[in-house]
Amino acid sequence: MSVYGVIMAGGKGERLWPASTPARPKPFLPLGGEGKSLIQATYDRVLPLTGRERLYVVTNATLAPRVKATLGLADSQILVEPQGRNTAPAIGLAALAVSLADPEGVMIVLPADHLIEDEESFRRALEAAVEAAQEGHLVTLGIEPSCPATGYGYIQRGKLFGSSHGHDIFKVKRFTEKPDEDTARRFLSEGGYYWNSGIFVWRAARILEEIDRFLPKLSQALKGLAGLWGRPGWEAALRKSWQEVEAISIDYGVMERAEDVVVVPASFGWHDLGDWQAVWEVLPKDGTGVAARGEHLGVDTARALIWARPGKTVATLGVSDVAIVDTQEALLVADMKRSQKVRELAQQARPAPPKWEKLLELDTSGMLEVVASFPDQCRKGLELGEEADVPPELSGFSRVLCVGMGGSGITGDLLGRLLSVPVISCRGYRVPSYIGEETLLVGVSYSGNTEETLSAFEEGLSRTRRALAISSGGKLRELCASRKIPWIGIPGGYQPRAALGYLLFTLLSVLRRLGAAHLELEEALEVLAGQAKALGPASPGNRAQAIAQALVGGVPLIYGTSGNTGPVAFRWKTQINENAKQPAFWAELPELCHNEIVGWELAERVLPEGRVVFLRTGHDHPRVQARIEILKEVLLRRGLSYLEVEGEGKSEAAQLFSLLYLGDWVSVYLALLNGVDPTPVRPIQELKDRLARL
Ligand code: PA5
Repeated sequence: MSVYGVIMAGGKGERLWPASTPARPKPFLPLGGEGKSLIQATYDRVLPLTGRERLYVVTNATLAPRVKATLGLADSQILVEPQGRNTAPAIGLAALAVSLADPEGVMIVLPADHLIEDEESFRRALEAAVEAAQEGHLVTLGIEPSCPATGYGYIQRGKLFGSSHGHDIFKVKRFTEKPDEDTARRFLSEGGYYWNSGIFVWRAARILEEIDRFLPKLSQALKGLAGLWGRPGWEAALRKSWQEVEAISIDYGVMERAEDVVVVPASFGWHDLGDWQAVWEVLPKDGTGVAARGEHLGVDTARALIWARPGKTVATLGVSDVAIVDTQEALLVADMKRSQKVRELAQQARPAPPKWEKLLELDTSGMLEVVASFPDQCRKGLELGEEADVPPELSGFSRVLCVGMGGSGITGDLLGRLLSVPVISCRGYRVPSYIGEETLLVGVSYSGNTEETLSAFEEGLSRTRRALAISSGGKLRELCASRKIPWIGIPGGYQPRAALGYLLFTLLSVLRRLGAAHLELEEALEVLAGQAKALGPASPGNRAQAIAQALVGGVPLIYGTSGNTGPVAFRWKTQINENAKQPAFWAELPELCHNEIVGWELAERVLPEGRVVFLRTGHDHPRVQARIEILKEVLLRRGLSYLEVEGEGKSEAAQLFSLLYLGDWVSVYLALLNGVDPTPVRPIQELKDRLARL
């Protein structure tokens, strides 16, 4: 008969707000001693009784990757509830997993967010409980109360039932929900009452029988799921069942009604850490009662809990009985004795859903409309390229040199993914010295007036006569006319970055005619058309809006992959800069595994707002995909969050362009969430004007 551990890791992140949040609830706070998170400490504590293979964690989809990264468990050991249904369904699910692994298995159920001082005596109490559970009893651990606490349920003991491992074991007479203070005082003076620890031990088969007796709907759902464990269809079936099962606690649903429930009284320094005062009580303090995590400077400060951000000092003067918690989310200053009420603040602090209708008014120049027309631009671009006057003598080149800046310059990077010959992107005043007649020189400037592009194009013309240019007009057009170089005109009136469909697809079509394009575009165009509908403002709550909401207030670090999504990551960065008017950075795998990841070490201090976005397609090298999986875990262990964004469609081009287009939408929604008009890019124009005057 083997012993299994089941750690219950959930929580709303309210009681220890703002250090805890829904995405980083209490189990993940470093309160477990020696800098460990509470869940890690829970895991380490029970490990000697169960072994690594016999541990399960029940959690939700948001926390599952963090649990995996923290504890390094296999996917099969992480039981993901589609929605929280209180403890009875969660325990039922774990009991199902244990009983399928070992029909005789005994399971220890442990909340992931308790602090326990004396681990040896904790394990001894559990050994006693396991022995009783093996005999078929439902066992709960009762904590000897040290004060008339009103925040816990109480267990009244009945007759002495036996003893094991130095612990008396009693029949349970009654469970009482959280009492008022008078009742709690009476319990303490009468004696024979224990705090309900939420730690249970029983045979998995036994608790399933009790669930069958008292919670037949849940039992039915679990029986239906049994045949699907580890098979396709599990997730869908679980999702459906969990919509129907009743949300109920195991105490109320089973323990209070079952017979043969026993309690093992224990006192091993148990703390539920239910509010900041409770945390203050357990943390080491200086002579004035100040418990500080991080840097604290205090004068005339007493009985205070200080929770500072890495790299930022909290200074206090003449305060006492106060909890000060500084995090990226908020700065809390609370009367310590009233810290139970922090929960109310946490609830109020939850961001309200954006009022998109109102925010859309910020888009005074109609950027959303232009973005929506991108698929049309691409198709029209292909037509323009077909009609363009391109002399056949231009063909026969062995590489393409694209000169262009900013919103035009990205064209060269993207062409590099789409052509059958190498493409060099040149952003600057000069072209590389090795360029000669074998190179097709392509000048790309939407306005036709960008000085770096004009300079490099002219220099390029001194090396090769195989050249063409694209713009909406400007000096580039004049230069081409005077030098008799083919020039392709595209419609004017757009921001350069918003004319990418014209710039890129016109050139692609021309280069296809010259024999240099190799990727099939039809599926990509269909996918783009679908996205134009799905991601527009007429589809509120869409994927692009959700991503923008996840990024707002942060510094996006967009990660693409070399030879695939790298240019798209760069486009996300530049679009976020220009549309959303905020910093963003990009890097490429696998290269970033050789430098950037070291920079994450101090990210919590210097870039706590960093938000990693992995751009993913099915076309990355398998080792690159494996690297991303590892990086996700590294990020979570460092407390950094990430998003994964998948391309749509099957073909390389569809996945690439769908990611690019998604990024365009995200950048515009992010602009609106930032409260800015996406269209104007004044700093660019101002710089160009100043340079023109020099
Ligand atoms: O998006 C923008 O407005 C800029 O990045 C421009 O593209 C950049 O300044 C170069 O201008 P142009 O595209 O007109 O050559």
